[in-house]
Amino acid sequence: MSKVVVTGRVPEAALEKLRTEHDVDAWTGPGSISREELLRRVAGADAVVSLLTERIDAELLDAAGEQLKVVANVAVGYDNIDVPACTERGIIAANTPGVLTEATADIAFGLILMATRRLGEGERLIRSGQAWKWGMFFLLGSSLQGKTLGIVGMGGIGQATARRAKAFGMEIVYQSRSEIDPAIAAELGARRVELDELLAVSDVVSLHCPYGPNTHHLIGAEQLTAMKDTAYLVNTARGPIIDEAALATALRDGVIAGAGLDVFEHEPTVHPGLLELENVALVPHLGSATVETRTAMAMLAADNTLAVLRGEQPPTPIG
Ligand code: DGY
Repeated sequence: MSKVVVTGRVPEAALEKLRTEHDVDAWTGPGSISREELLRRVAGADAVVSLLTERIDAELLDAAGEQLKVVANVAVGYDNIDVPACTERGIIAANTPGVLTEATADIAFGLILMATRRLGEGERLIRSGQAWKWGMFFLLGSSLQGKTLGIVGMGGIGQATARRAKAFGMEIVYQSRSEIDPAIAAELGARRVELDELLAVSDVVSLHCPYGPNTHHLIGAEQLTAMKDTAYLVNTARGPIIDEAALATALRDGVIAGAGLDVFEHEPTVHPGLLELENVALVPHLGSATVETRTAMAMLAADNTLAVLRGEQPPTPIG
């Protein structure tokens, strides 16, 4: 039996699956595991099942030891893992693409609606106890029908968001490293453009690219200024893709109309400038937060782990 360390709480079904073949040491709280405790626990592990809140770097891999064979992230994003450090040590890294696509697109579209239709503002108003009454000009938002959605990063989640936008009567442009399948582009009526054009023509910009050195602060003051002053920015990918201080300033000064954020640059801290504004919808990294999706993610991470420990190719390796 091999030793599998699970760095945080995951659905029981995944732990049961791992336990059928291995010794499982799973953190059960309270709260998140401390770095010190994690470094202690991984010593001697053959596999680490990690959450995005834990940094899997050279220090941790070395603390685990030479027998470590696999790091299975329970997330599609893997900016918490030093993949080159894994590769150098012959450790396979895996993530969970596919299973959280629809849930994350739901939240992206939810944020688009929250921002453009001022749902958060309305909710806060009612809860504040202030008097209100239907009025011709009361809390007017912006319609989506006939507007353009610009998708940055047209992988599975970007495409799933585009499908939802099409159902709402939106036009779609996208920026991506490569063209998507022409049949899917035709079905969505999606046109590939450069980022500059996307920012200039879009009424809503939704971010779905991975985070890394190439996308750090991809959207900063210059890009926000390039957007329409009536446009909205939505981020369900990773916080540091946006320069959050620049966004707070742009929202305050009316450079863009509004934003919807599920992820934050220094998560879980939110830039204080954003907290003061009405024109930004803020939700706490809920993209994949459904019972079904989190179970599927944990089961896929378990499958990745079991495959590597059996000497097989994991279903969803990184790279
Ligand atoms: C992911 O899988 O990368 C998501 O951010 C988790 O919600």
